[in-house]
Amino acid sequence: MLETLVRHLDMIRLTVVAASLLVAMGCSGLIDGGSNGNLTPEEVAARRLWTEKALPQLQANCVICHNGSRANIGFVVGDNDLAIRDAILAYTPTVANLDAPSSSRILTKGIHEGPALDAIQTSDILEWINAEKAAVPDPGEDGPRLETAQILPTICTSGLPDSPGAPNVNCLYNNIPLDEIGAVGAKIQFIAQALGSGLYLTNLKLVPAAGGAFIDHPLFVAYPADAEAKADTIDRFFSVKMNLMATATAEEQQIGGGTAAFVGFFSTDKISIHFKAISAFKPDEVGPPPATGCLRLAEFKANAAQPLQTNCASCHAGGGNPNAKSAVNMDNLLSAVDDDVLLACNQIRTRMNFQDLNLSGLYLAPAPANNNHPFRFPSQAAHDTFKNAVQVWALAEQTAAP
Ligand code: HEC
Ligand code: HEC
Repeated sequence: MLETLVRHLDMIRLTVVAASLLVAMGCSGLIDGGSNGNLTPEEVAARRLWTEKALPQLQANCVICHNGSRANIGFVVGDNDLAIRDAILAYTPTVANLDAPSSSRILTKGIHEGPALDAIQTSDILEWINAEKAAVPDPGEDGPRLETAQILPTICTSGLPDSPGAPNVNCLYNNIPLDEIGAVGAKIQFIAQALGSGLYLTNLKLVPAAGGAFIDHPLFVAYPADAEAKADTIDRFFSVKMNLMATATAEEQQIGGGTAAFVGFFSTDKISIHFKAISAFKPDEVGPPPATGCLRLAEFKANAAQPLQTNCASCHAGGGNPNAKSAVNMDNLLSAVDDDVLLACNQIRTRMNFQDLNLSGLYLAPAPANNNHPFRFPSQAAHDTFKNAVQVWALAEQTAAP
C-alpha cells in the first residue's frame, strides 16, 4: 500500500514537471512523441531523464565495453538514443530493475573490469529508472500476480532443522508457498538467522512439486511495520532462472549458491518474494545453464581460503561489515565441514572473471590504487602475494570441466 502511495506521489511530482513543459512548449492536449505516438506525461519525463542524465553517464563510463562489441554483455546498444533505452530495459538478465530501481545491477555492479559508478553518476541513472517505473501503467487487478504472500520468517536460534531428534523447534525451515502465483505445490525454502545488520538465509532452495517449477529473477522484499518496503539492495538474483522437474536434486534446487545476507532486513519484518516470471516446469524452456558452483574445493582450501581469511574476513565474515558481507559473504572459509567451505567458495567464485582472471573483482577490489573499496593492500607486493595464492585455485577452477 505504501508502495502505491509512493508511486502516486512520484506521479504527481512528475505530472507537475510535465505540465510545466507543456506550457513552455505552448501546446495543449497530448504530447506528440514523434514516431512513438502519444506519450503520457510520465513517459515524457522518463525519456527526458534518459537522454539528459542516464545515457550521458553510461556513454562516458560504460559504453566502451557494453556496446555489443563484446559477447554477452551488450546492453548499451542501438542506433539512436531511444533504441538504446529500449535495449537496456529489455535486456535479460535484468540490469535496470523497475521493481526495485535502486537495486538495479547497473547501479550496484560496483568495480569489475569496468569502474564503479560514483554518487552523482549513480543518482543520475537512478532518477531515470525511478521515472521509468512511474511511467509503467498500473497492471490493475487483472495483471498476473508475481509476488508471494508476505510471511514473518521463523528465526533459527540454535542447531539445524535436521539435527538429531528433528524437528528441532529452535530451528525450523521457512517455506514460502508458490501455489497462488502459478507454481502449484512448489515452495521457496530456507533457514533464517538474525544478524545485527540484517537477515541471513542459508539452505535457500526452490523445491518443486509434481508439476515442477520455473522461476525467473527472484527479488526479496522486506516490509517493516512502520516504514517503506525495501528490496534486496543488490538485486543479487538478477540472473537466476531455474526450470526444475519434480526430480531435481537438492543441488539443482539451490538458489544462487544457497546463502544470502540481506542487509537492512530485520527479523521483525515480513518478507515476500517477487518474480519476473513464475510457473510450473516449462518443457520448452532451454534447461538451466550448467551449475556454476566451485568445482575445485581442494585447491580453494589449500591456497585461497587462508589468504582470504587473513585479509578479508574481518569485514566480509562473522559480525564484520554488513555491506561487505552482503556483497561477498566469506563466512566459514576455514570450516572443517566441506559443505560450508563450498558455500564460501561459491560466493568467491561469483567475483571471478574467468575470461580474464586478472580482471576479477576479487583482485580489483583490494588493489592498492582502488579508492572505491574500504580495504586496499598497502603495497603492490602485498597485493601480488595475495593474488598469486588465490590464483592457484582460480586457474584450476577456470579449466575444470563441469
Ligand atoms: C573495460 C570494460 C568494461 C567497462 C568500461 C564496464 N564494464 Fe561492465 N562488464 C564488463 C565485463 C567483462 C563484464 C562481464 C564479467 C563481469 O560480470 O564482471 C561486465 C558485466 C557487467 C554487468 C553484468 C551483470 C552483472 O551484474 O554481473 C553490469 C550490470 C555491468 N557490467 C555494469 C557496468 C557499468 C554500469 C559500467 C559503467 C560504469 C560498466 N559496466 C563498465 C566490462 C566492462
Ligand atoms: C575494512 C573492511 C573490508 C575489508 C578488510 C575487505 N573488504 Fe571487501 N568490501 C568491503 C565493503 C564495505 C564492501 C561493500 C561495497 C562497498 O561498500 O564498497 C566490499 C565489497 C567487496 C567486493 C565487491 C565489490 C563491489 O563493488 O561489488 C569485493 C569483490 C571485495 N570486497 C573483495 C575483498 C577482498 C578480496 C578483500 C581482502 C583482500 C576485502 N574485500 C577486504 C569492506 C572490506
